[in-house]
Amino acid sequence: MESASPSTDRREALVGRLTESALNTMEICCVYLGDRLGLYRALRSGLPTTAAELAAAAGINRRYAREWLEQQAVAGILEVDSAADPETRRYALSAEHAEVLLDPDSLNWFAPVVQLVVGLTRPLPALLEAFRSGEGISWSAFGADPREGQAGQNRPAFLKLLGTEWLPALPDIHARLAGDPPARVADVACGAAWSSIAIARAYPKVRVDGFDSDEASVALARANVAEAGLAERVTISARDAGDPALAGRYDLVTIFEALHDMSRPVDALRTVRGLLAEGGAVLVMDERVAETFTAPGDTIERMMYGFSVLCCLPTGLAEQPSAGTGTVMRPATLRRYALEAGFGDVEILPIANDLFRFYRLHVRGPAGT
Ligand SMILES: C[S@@+](CC[C@H](N)C(=O)[O-])C[C@H]1O[C@@H](n2cnc3c(N)ncnc32)[C@H](O)[C@@H]1O
Repeated sequence: MESASPSTDRREALVGRLTESALNTMEICCVYLGDRLGLYRALRSGLPTTAAELAAAAGINRRYAREWLEQQAVAGILEVDSAADPETRRYALSAEHAEVLLDPDSLNWFAPVVQLVVGLTRPLPALLEAFRSGEGISWSAFGADPREGQAGQNRPAFLKLLGTEWLPALPDIHARLAGDPPARVADVACGAAWSSIAIARAYPKVRVDGFDSDEASVALARANVAEAGLAERVTISARDAGDPALAGRYDLVTIFEALHDMSRPVDALRTVRGLLAEGGAVLVMDERVAETFTAPGDTIERMMYGFSVLCCLPTGLAEQPSAGTGTVMRPATLRRYALEAGFGDVEILPIANDLFRFYRLHVRGPAGT
């Protein structure tokens, strides 16, 4: 038997791969429906549920409920009994899948990533135009889903790891935050402020000032801070990171997963340098992309290019002039920005994480110059 030609193999491999991607895209959209309509929440009890019961519990149409339940069972997300009659068939959400879909405190919580990714597809018509014109799309124009999805996807890591593992891994910063006089922290581009909240919870003496240029994020952050009962020690303001009028003397300035989004990262870092108290530290967390461009890339690289094309590059280009960084900000790029902003050295910190790399920006050079 003759074997297929390499060109046929390549064609078939791509068709197979794109078929899988199309299927996955539709399944992600169906998970989005279950999340946003509260269908997983209604199934949380674990008690097997019929389509009519789900429809009543979640306030949705019964026929839609049945189709969604069947789709979820076929996709292997819900468990189902073997009843032949679709009206009496019962569906259940396992405890393990409930954690992934519903538990905001779990490091496995994935629903926000779904909300973010689906939300990023909404401005696709504007993105077509942006590709032609070179203009950007502001983060606020992406709407609530990406904003809330972004906040939710980092929430568990901030609340579980930032104050218990990441900051304690930096002994001098940890000691300063725990010590006297009470330290001041600026959390630049704080988004929904889960990082500010995590720092204030872990270090009961510190005061945190969170800044973000997006008004809707500021409103969300203030609500989260109030709900956490931290309004006395955590303030949130609508400010641009590059605003030279930003004032204060901070023992720690943080920028979590946001430097690559900024139109003018060098201006922002220059402002940050000016905010430092004597001996103050700057901590930047950004994507753990490869050090150099490699194609084909691994999962992280593919994921970050996806975010970059759909969101971070267009948001970065929304203001001009722009550095046009995109999500794939490699260590050499960050180092160049930091040196241009007047920092003396950039240290990559030994904090283990699959998604993020942590940098410390030093005011003086390697030899203390
Ligand atoms: C990907 S989100 C990260 C938010 C948050 N730090 C987190 O880890 O969830 C990026 C944030 O940067 C903010 N941002 C972008 N450019 C900014 C600027 N020049 N000044 C202040 N905030 C900015 C956006 O409004 C958005 O909230």
